[in-house]
Amino acid sequence: MNNYIKPAGTSVLVAMAVCLTAGAALAFSSGPLDGLTAAPGEGNCTQCHSTFGLNSGAGSVTISGIPQDYAPLTPYTVTVTVADPAASRWGFEFTILDIEGVSVGAVSNADANTQISTGGAFGRTYAKHTSAGSQLGQGTAASWNVNWTSPAEGAGDLTVYVAGNAANGNFSTSGDNIYTNSFAMSEDVTSSVPGNSPLASLHPAYPNPFNPRTQLSFTLAEGQNVSLGVYDVQGRLVTTIYRGDLPSGTHSYTWRGQDQQGRPQPSGLYFGRLMDRSGRDLNRPIKMTLTK
Ligand code: HEC
Repeated sequence: MNNYIKPAGTSVLVAMAVCLTAGAALAFSSGPLDGLTAAPGEGNCTQCHSTFGLNSGAGSVTISGIPQDYAPLTPYTVTVTVADPAASRWGFEFTILDIEGVSVGAVSNADANTQISTGGAFGRTYAKHTSAGSQLGQGTAASWNVNWTSPAEGAGDLTVYVAGNAANGNFSTSGDNIYTNSFAMSEDVTSSVPGNSPLASLHPAYPNPFNPRTQLSFTLAEGQNVSLGVYDVQGRLVTTIYRGDLPSGTHSYTWRGQDQQGRPQPSGLYFGRLMDRSGRDLNRPIKMTLTK
């Protein structure tokens, strides 16, 4: 039992020391480190601001200014609001990711209260408060505006992951309430040509629903390098059906409802995606349902 408790205690002390040293050197009230939005693979601000549990306070962090159906290549003003009746200093961080967890679109400052940086474990782009933007002394809620231009056609579903700190203004990590939230957007296909790439079109799977196999086909106007993959609803790659150069014309492949290792997959919704060499979707993903 002692063996179990000792290392745990030690690691808490080490973690605290890291936070204090880093805080002294980097002045976090002037903007947190990259990668704390609770997006897939990320931690959140309670790593240091740990007095209260995540989302345990009476406040919230919310996103507004962007529609659930975004139009490609369109400028939006993203507004982040942290509200909490008990706070008197404020901070936030957000990132906008596609289903593969990659930052998309172009983010830029609207004013001196925010800053943009790219980093963290995944090289994602983050918007966050500046020192001036921590709005010391202001009560009940704080907001920030950040400019975001949506990506080009074919980026598909996106999610904004946001963390907010409703702080007590004591220039330390103690006594602050941390909130996280996420906001899902899908691409407005009526604003652009569905099937976007003029050079390729991915056809509906047939049969669909299917068991145990279905056929995926697409037509290329010119020879090119493509990859055809099957993804699950979490956006994870199940299997790559084809990758390489193909001539123009229609190409058909069978998906046997198995992953890359040949293991049968459970019933459910899957997506077929046709991508170019750099992994960009050439068309909107197609849906197919495996029913056992
Ligand atoms: C690695 C540790 C660490 C993480 C993680 C961290 N902070 Fe901090 N933060 C600090 C330290 C240390 C201070 C106190 C020193 C200072 O004011 O710069 C602080 C202070 C603050 C303050 C002022 C608090 C007050 O009461 O005066 C705000 C606001 C803030 N951080 C926001 C954030 C947000 C938002 C996140 C997550 C996106 C975050 N921090 C994540 C270490 C951290």
